Amino acid sequence: MKKIIAWTLTALMILGMFAMTGCAKKAAKTLTVAMSPDFAPMEFVDTSKTGQDQYVGFDVTLANFIASEMGLELVIKPMSFDACQAAVQSGTVDMSISGFSYTPTRAENFNLSDYYYAGDNETEQTIICLAENAGKWTKAEDFSGLKVGAQVASLQYDLCTSQLPADCSIEIYTDIGTAVEALRNGLINALAVAQGNGEAIIAANDQVAMTGFNFEVSAEAENNVILIKKGNDDLTKAVNEVLAKAFDAGYYGKWYEDAKVLAGISTASEVGYDDEGNVAAD
Ligand code: ARG
Repeated sequence: MKKIIAWTLTALMILGMFAMTGCAKKAAKTLTVAMSPDFAPMEFVDTSKTGQDQYVGFDVTLANFIASEMGLELVIKPMSFDACQAAVQSGTVDMSISGFSYTPTRAENFNLSDYYYAGDNETEQTIICLAENAGKWTKAEDFSGLKVGAQVASLQYDLCTSQLPADCSIEIYTDIGTAVEALRNGLINALAVAQGNGEAIIAANDQVAMTGFNFEVSAEAENNVILIKKGNDDLTKAVNEVLAKAFDAGYYGKWYEDAKVLAGISTASEVGYDDEGNVAAD
């Protein structure tokens, strides 16, 4: 009798072990990506959706592509733009995809992926204002004595401090949405943004317009990069292989057009979608 019980127990344990390894195999490994979803058309929130589905935009499509190419389940961790950078450095996420422009300082602090291209989002860095002031401030000196907002730890903040006059007050915002509110409420006169992001903000706010001023930007800052922890060369290499695949397949242009439609910058008919929802060839 004792023997039978012992055998039964052993058999149950073995079965249990099989079940556990089986489960472990089924639960896909995850790719955790930090994102600051306040930057349409790159990453923003679709308020009609919930959970992971609410995050939409170019970078979300890119993150999904990377995860699926690597056989991983994507988990987007939403957080502020400065927190995204800290999370990569502390290793609490695998990477951050959040419309990061290439900057030499980021190249020092992170492993940067190869470039990826998001249409004309960052071909210009610009300043938006209330529609009533459109066209008033077109040169850096014109911002003298004004309050100009910029996102914390962003390229736009660096451009403000290096190119706007010393007596222009640069107001730092953690969240771009809050900065737009401040502009609308007159707490700041203007807000420094990437070109495409400015277009998305204007599309959603009638009372906001372009000032007509553009910053001087080095050509390399037009390119976006993914931030990975310094020294994580294996992951960087794997990501670069996926980026090369997306580039070769010509996905970036289509993804950007899709994101512009989602962000309300353009309409499906302007983009020229055909009946299948694909961008029609010129
Ligand atoms: N391209 C700019 C930068 O690198 C702005 C990116 C802001 N991204 C965001 N998700 N808020 O600093």
